[in-house]
Amino acid sequence: MAPEFATQLTKAVQLVEARLDACLPNPAQSLIAIPMRHAVLNGGKRLRAFLVLESAALFDVDTGQALQCAAAIECIHAYSLVHDDLPCMDDDDLRRGLPTVHIKWDEATAVLVGDALQTLAYEILSTKAAAENDTIRISLINRLACASGAFGMVLGQAQDIAAETAQVPLTLEQITDLQANKTGALIKWSAEAGAVLASQPSIILSEYADALGLAFQIQDDILDVEGDAQAAGKRLQKDTEAGKATFVSILGLAAAKQRAAALIEQAQDVLSPYGTKADKLRAVAQYVIERNK
Ligand code: IPE
Ligand code: IPE
Ligand code: MG
Ligand code: MG
Ligand code: MG
Repeated sequence: MAPEFATQLTKAVQLVEARLDACLPNPAQSLIAIPMRHAVLNGGKRLRAFLVLESAALFDVDTGQALQCAAAIECIHAYSLVHDDLPCMDDDDLRRGLPTVHIKWDEATAVLVGDALQTLAYEILSTKAAAENDTIRISLINRLACASGAFGMVLGQAQDIAAETAQVPLTLEQITDLQANKTGALIKWSAEAGAVLASQPSIILSEYADALGLAFQIQDDILDVEGDAQAAGKRLQKDTEAGKATFVSILGLAAAKQRAAALIEQAQDVLSPYGTKADKLRAVAQYVIERNK
């Protein structure tokens, strides 16, 4: 990772962690606060949060508002991971280097933590700290609901599970669609958030996010095959065994890497109208395919 980008990411992570800490319930308030905090405040990369902050910076949006939106998307993302790790889904016992919620507590707690994080995300977005303007706030909430639900992340997860037992392997087109839903939709919400906050067109950021989101999931699939489990903080080499449909399963490693690199170049190029102001969005795109976790 380029040193300058590493510093910027670390600084963003600290700001996001502090905002998340302030938004999450504390143990005196809720029986479920400790497992919620375990799921959220335990060392994620905060990629989606970074995208919110940097897309907001493009339009000189107030950092406090961007942080509120960043906290919301990280809660939705953490909810998706808690449920993704459940025995009925990917059955994983390790996440971000720590036991998953259903292992440290139990399955009922993990289901409820996911539920509570999902509703917390909308609570966070519904406050004026996210946006003073009612129309903007409703737009953020509406877009997040669409990106998360039956036409977004949840659809992608359903497609992912269905593919495990499909009689015929998915086509490249079907895998692209699956990954755009499963991972792409939340990444897209994040990258577009700055434009939404500024009431500006989001078309360029949307194109950037389409390419970035796909490359991100391809890299996740590549890491599952050849990554280092210690660095990743989760179990690897599980996709093939589970019969997951991934770019690696259909194209092989080398072509999957080429595809991810081409997508990142595309994502970076599309930002040209923003000039050097979009350099951090270009840097984070590079990081997406160079990361080892
Ligand atoms: C993991 O997401 C799940 C996928 C969508 C591939 P991340 O790799 O962003 O997980 P954290 O937040 O850094 O732990
Ligand atoms: C998870 O994808 C995507 C969501 C949680 C929406 P994966 O199942 O590939 O993520 P990891 O590999 O467990 O992090
Ligand atoms: Mg999964
Ligand atoms: Mg998984
Ligand atoms: Mg994976």
